Amino acid sequence: MPASPLLITTASEMHAFARSQINNSIALVPTMGALHRGHFGLVQRAQEIADVVVVSIFVNPTQFGPTEDLARYPRQLKADLAGLEQMGGVDVVFAPKVSEMYPDGIDRQSIWVTPSSMADVLCGAFRPGHFRGVATVVAKLFSICSPDYAIFGMKDAQQLVVLKKMVRDLGFQLSIEGVPTIRESDGLALSSRNRFLTKEERQQAVVVSRAVKSAKKAIESGESNAHTVRTLMTEIIDEASLALVQYADVVDAETLQPLVSIGHGQQVLSAVAVFFGGTRLIDNTFSVASSETTAG
Ligand code: PAJ
Repeated sequence: MPASPLLITTASEMHAFARSQINNSIALVPTMGALHRGHFGLVQRAQEIADVVVVSIFVNPTQFGPTEDLARYPRQLKADLAGLEQMGGVDVVFAPKVSEMYPDGIDRQSIWVTPSSMADVLCGAFRPGHFRGVATVVAKLFSICSPDYAIFGMKDAQQLVVLKKMVRDLGFQLSIEGVPTIRESDGLALSSRNRFLTKEERQQAVVVSRAVKSAKKAIESGESNAHTVRTLMTEIIDEASLALVQYADVVDAETLQPLVSIGHGQQVLSAVAVFFGGTRLIDNTFSVASSETTAG
């Protein structure tokens, strides 16, 4: 029988545990729970690279906007612990309460980590304050858990890019690893929000991954007009009658700045956000532009 992970709920105990791991490297996998195979893929990567694996489970209120789904976000700590126990190889689950992460209350916290313009595009353009909430809570997790590695999914590409920059800018002594997106057999990226899709929406949701995969194919085959790639993605998503595109964009993979034309060999992120009813899905692909061009 695999050993149960140690459940820690306070910052001071978590920090004491981390301090006790003098000769062991620690990999942290930050999550908001409702764990699925996508999260388990990150845990597996953590096990490969570090001696000790810490999974944090915390639904962070400050990254949700006032009209977003904080209240309905699934919370299932027992099931998450059981899933991690069955998987094996997780040493600690850090599951703090809101009062532990925001000791003076959210309204009375005065120091925040605020990313600059790279947080104002893609999801950030539609979710003001979201990446401030993410960067702030992840900075707290880094100081509490003292990891050597932190593992994030490429599914949340903008989050990954913003957090890599935070580590450089704020001098956190750890390395961030990005893990490729884990998908259902029809291509839909696994997400805690997929459970909110009706049967019909779920069937149609395949257009989301099809759109970003087509963008990758076009860019790698030499399409250099970013507008053409945006249109291609929008047209594919529009084939689904229940889908509403929030954005379909093509940006530089490092700076996240929107592109007009795609340069030879440039690393590009094609990303979309799509509503099915009240459920918002995101997906993306990274590509390296071909050196052969088909458009100017
Ligand atoms: P959450 O949405 O729970 O995701 C936790 C991690 O799992 C993120 O790094 C995310 O990119 C990754 N992930 C989700 N679905 C995935 C999939 N299908 N394949 C691979 N990885 C996947 O992202 C957050 O929580 C929060 O913003 C957090 C970083 C924990 C800060 O609160």
